[in-house]
This record gives sequence, structure tokens and C-alpha cells, in this order.
Amino acid sequence: MLRGVRGARLLLAAVGLCYRPGMRILSGIQPSGTLHLGNYFGMMLPALELQEQGEAFYFIADYHSMTSLFDPAERRRNSLDVALDFLACGLDPERTVFFRQSAVPEVTELTWILSTVTPMGLLERCHSYKDKTTRGIPVNHGLFAYPVLMAADILIYDSEVVPVGQDQKQHVEVTRDIAIKFNELYGPTFVVPEPRIREATARVPGVDGDKMSKSYDNTIPIFGDEKALRKRIMGIRMDSRTPDEPKPDAGENLAVQLLKLVAPGPVAADYEDRLRAGGLGYGDLKKKLFECYWEHFAGARQRRAELAADPAELTRILQAGAARARAVARPVLERVRRACGLD
Ligand code: ADP
Ligand code: TRP
Repeated sequence: MLRGVRGARLLLAAVGLCYRPGMRILSGIQPSGTLHLGNYFGMMLPALELQEQGEAFYFIADYHSMTSLFDPAERRRNSLDVALDFLACGLDPERTVFFRQSAVPEVTELTWILSTVTPMGLLERCHSYKDKTTRGIPVNHGLFAYPVLMAADILIYDSEVVPVGQDQKQHVEVTRDIAIKFNELYGPTFVVPEPRIREATARVPGVDGDKMSKSYDNTIPIFGDEKALRKRIMGIRMDSRTPDEPKPDAGENLAVQLLKLVAPGPVAADYEDRLRAGGLGYGDLKKKLFECYWEHFAGARQRRAELAADPAELTRILQAGAARARAVARPVLERVRRACGLD
């Protein structure tokens, strides 16, 4: 079976598509809440850096948000918010194809086709689904079938590389299994993609030390009201040791870990050393963290305000992105229909 980016190229050649310069990169984010440091460092920043290395397709996963969000106004608002977030953080809409998932409805047809080659057991093993059922959250069929829609998202654009945080790795592996199974059944049709995970920031901790996540109410949002964000950071959980006590475990301190993400290297190292030696209070450490965090996103905050003032431009960007995405998705779907006898 063809694996990896080289394998992807060979497969593209086998199905008669011309060679593309640069790899195709794809990722999505659900419009289900406020962008936080975990999303930013785990997925968005690596994805933005990859824009330079190939042809990137990034989208707002509004179909996926339907599995857990049932308020249309909120979905509309969140979708625009996440679009602004992405653009403010550096997505270049000239270079990168940026769109709403539901603007390419072909992906739902592919979801059905893929679901017929997806073993039940593959979906039953998915952590995100299992977590929800064990926590007693009522699950719908959409949530169970969520990874199949995600596979369709990835496969319909012949994606080679998928930048995500650690918690999405299993879903990309499911995509690979589905693509391989389809290729075996119906002949070489799909590129088999690879997840791209930045180990250092694969699991950014939240204010309580658990994985930062909207579902755990422990996030530090990137954008929002200064006072509320300061309070959030000052509320990061610490232990009860006095400031004077040396702290040999300073490297594991939550505020130090977050400081390493947002502060220049020497500043973070200096604070870590001072905490280790004793004499630095947790309050001062958290104040420094807030200061560096606020400064780190100052440019993005400014850009976001400018973009928010021009909603017509945002609509234009998303519509142009959707047209580009659809132009790629349609021939891939045709290829799939031919392969399985639906032509
Ligand atoms: P949440 O867990 O807050 O609901 P999402 O599931 O919407 O976040 O994740 C969007 C992207 O951000 C995914 O690629 C995911 O892997 C990544 N991500 C989310 N939380 C973190 C985290 N704490 N550390 C690293 N990456 C994360
Ligand atoms: N499931 C992803 C998340 O919750 C979002 C997503 C949907 C995605 N489709 C995708 C990510 C395709 C990468 C590729 O974060």
C-alpha cells in the first residue's frame, strides 16, 4: 500500500492526476467555542507555518459542530468568530484555501460512500466517542459517525498532511484505515494522508493542569476582555508552598509551561530558574505570564479588530475559498463514483 507523501504522489500519478508542486495540507476547526491557547499552539500555529510549505486547505467544520451544538444563531456567530480568529492569527487567504465545510456539500456524499467501507469496530474504538459515552453525555448518530465525515473532509481534497493536536491523531488514523480499505476494494483512488503533530505542544495544559479544552472549562482564550483574561490567568491552580521555598520541580509548574509558549526564551528560562531557586512568588510569576501573553497576541488582536470591522470582506474571502475548494472536491468525487460504479 502506498504510504507517506511520496506514496501520495505515486498514487496521484496512478489515478492520472498531474503532479502538484508542494504538498497538500488540510485541517479544520469546529466553530464550537472560543479559540484558546491549546488550539492555537497545538493546531493553528503549526498549520499556519505549513502554509509556506505547500498548498493549504483550512476550513471551519460547521457540519461537525452539529453533533453537539443545536443553536443556529450560535453556529453562525461562532463560524464568523473562528474565521476572524484564523485570519487574525496569520492565515493568508490569497495563498491558502479558506472556507466553511458546509459550502462544499459534496463532502456529505463522500461521507456516505466511506461509511459503507467503515467497520463499526473502528468507530467504536474512537476515544472521543467513548469519552462522551462514559461521561454519560447522550450521543447521537452524527457523533458516532463523526470520524467518517472527518475522513471525507481529508480525502476529498487529496490531502497529504493533516496538522492536528494529539487528540485528533486517532481520527486521522481512522481516515488512513478507511482510505486503505477503499483502495483495496475498488482500486487506487485515495491518497493516504499523514497526521502532523508537533510533540512539544501536542497537549497544552489548562488552568487546572488537565488538557486545555472547551469541554473542561479550563481554557485561556486568545481573544477577549482583558480583565476577564487576567483573572483567568491569575486563577491558574498552584500549590501551597511559600514563595521562599526552592522548587526543584519548577519545570512542571503550569504557569512556567505556559510562559514558555508566550514569552521569549530567555525570559521564560529566567523565571523558571528563579522559581527553582526560591524567592519568586506564584502571584508574580502569573503576572509575568499575563503580561507576556497579552503582548504575544497584541498584533493579532489589532488585526482581528480591523477584520471584524469589514464583514463584507470576510464573506468574500470565505466564498472565494469555497469556490476553490469545490473545484478540487468535485473531480475527486467523480473519481470515487467511477471507482465504485456510481457513474
Ligand atoms: P477543544 O478540546 O477545546 O474542544 P477542539 O477539539 O476544537 O478543542 O480542537 C481543535 C484543534 O486544536 C484540534 O486539532 C486539537 O487537537 C487542538 N487542540 C485542542 N486542545 C488542545 C490542547 N490542549 N493542546 C494541543 N492541541 C489542542
Ligand atoms: N475534528 C476536528 C476537531 O474537532 C475538526 C476537523 C474536522 C478536522 N474535520 C477535520 C481536523 C479534518 C483535521 C482534518 O478539532
